[in-house]
Amino acid sequence: MKSSVRGRVVCRTWVGGAALGVPAVAPSAAGAVESGGHVFVRRVAVVGAGYVGLTTGACLASLGHQVVCADIDVEKVDRLRRGTLDILEPGLAELVAEQVSAARLSFVVDVADAVTAVPADDPDGGRHAEVVFLCLPTPMGVGGVADLRAVEAVIEETRELLAPGTVVVNKSTVPVGTAGRTAELLDRPDVSVVSNPEFLREGSAVQDFLHPDRIVVGCDTAEAAERVAALYARLGAPTVLTDAASAELMKYAANCFLAMKLSYVNAMAELCERVGADIGDVTEGIGYDRRIGQAFLSPGPGWGGSCLPKDTHALLQVADAADFEFRLLRATIDTNTRQRQRIVDKVRQAVTGRRTGSLTRVRLGLLGLTFKAGTDDLRDSPALAIAALLRQAGAELVGYDPALVADPADPDRAAVHQVDGVTLVSDPLEVAQGAEALVVLTEWPVFRTLDWPTMAGVMKQPVVVDTRNLLDPATLRRAGLTGIGLGRREA
Ligand code: UDX
Repeated sequence: MKSSVRGRVVCRTWVGGAALGVPAVAPSAAGAVESGGHVFVRRVAVVGAGYVGLTTGACLASLGHQVVCADIDVEKVDRLRRGTLDILEPGLAELVAEQVSAARLSFVVDVADAVTAVPADDPDGGRHAEVVFLCLPTPMGVGGVADLRAVEAVIEETRELLAPGTVVVNKSTVPVGTAGRTAELLDRPDVSVVSNPEFLREGSAVQDFLHPDRIVVGCDTAEAAERVAALYARLGAPTVLTDAASAELMKYAANCFLAMKLSYVNAMAELCERVGADIGDVTEGIGYDRRIGQAFLSPGPGWGGSCLPKDTHALLQVADAADFEFRLLRATIDTNTRQRQRIVDKVRQAVTGRRTGSLTRVRLGLLGLTFKAGTDDLRDSPALAIAALLRQAGAELVGYDPALVADPADPDRAAVHQVDGVTLVSDPLEVAQGAEALVVLTEWPVFRTLDWPTMAGVMKQPVVVDTRNLLDPATLRRAGLTGIGLGRREA
């Protein structure tokens, strides 16, 4: 029976699991979910063992559920079975190993095996998954529209295999209306489709999954929404049950709001430079206002990564399709694009003393290339975008990033010598050697404690452009370096 769940907020504490129509749950030592001897465990299939799928699979297993992860990439599945992960995510490798050895998590190549036989080594010969999570890539397609081909292919492959009553969960960030489209493609009235967006940051995905600010579950059928919410009941997070379109929009709304906050801060930093104010003081001051908050207020070279750029463009498409001119969002994106050029202008000014000075054959050292610290992810990295502009301007680029150091012992890392025209070295001192300026592009904490006097000693010109306001200006000064930050008074 269908019932609307629009706007209902339930499950504010773990005890609230009872409000979801499932037994109140509490953690057990074994990781199962128990209440008065009652064990509540779901058989879960996760399709796609990338960053979201693997985190989802391992974390759901750690909550006591029986999970099989499927991935089309045979070699990746092989590596996962051997306990080798392709991604750098604190705590994830340990969690995967723990759950595999507890026989709550396994990996398969064939998606059919994941949805029809969970767990694969079940003594009953395997049973169908009750909940199937789709954690598939939704890259930016033509004109910023999310490309849903991977999702569609898996639906086509599994539609005949799902047991009646299965709940299919879209965890990937998908355009508004995808749950409805998925249900149409499935054409299985006995299977429900739920939107359950993830809010995982790279570098803290496990922590974010197990300590979420909120769980969002969207479906037009209350029973299916509550079944998915109950998977997380043990986490005790505020859970928003809503319709599918609102849940889908919520993910975009969150990421676009974060992007807007950062574009605002970057614009404010520029204004600070023009009026002689300090962005650090300004953001600290406004951050004490609880309506604003201290988080996500650091100026930088622009926001990047696999989510914010893709999601801002996708929401713009959603708005366009709905005949809504979302000027604020467009300005958020434009401000970010402009930020990259602004950094190049700053470097030009720092090196040549003129905004229009030439960077031809100027050797620059780049510190950090990943889109943020704590990850080895280069997707849509602002550092690489800025490097491309510097290269176009004629500069010769040498880079160091702690996550991209060549490692002869690791076959995947043995030959990391060039990334997008930047020559990579494995020692920050080599980056400084003969450089006319160093440009800090990623906020790796280790850069703070580099041997700055020695770095200064090997540079051609003692200049550091710090696009993350990461380094202590006094430390640089003592080392004989001119530090140029963003929106800082001394700049
Ligand atoms: C983001 C969202 O935060 C997460 O909720 C969503 O599920 C996936 O997308 P992530 O892509 O891991 O997570 O990166 P995030 O930590 O949000 O940073 C995005 C970009 O903003 C990075 O380039 C980062 O360096 C930049 N940033 C972040 C700043 O420039 N200043 C800040 O204060 C914070």
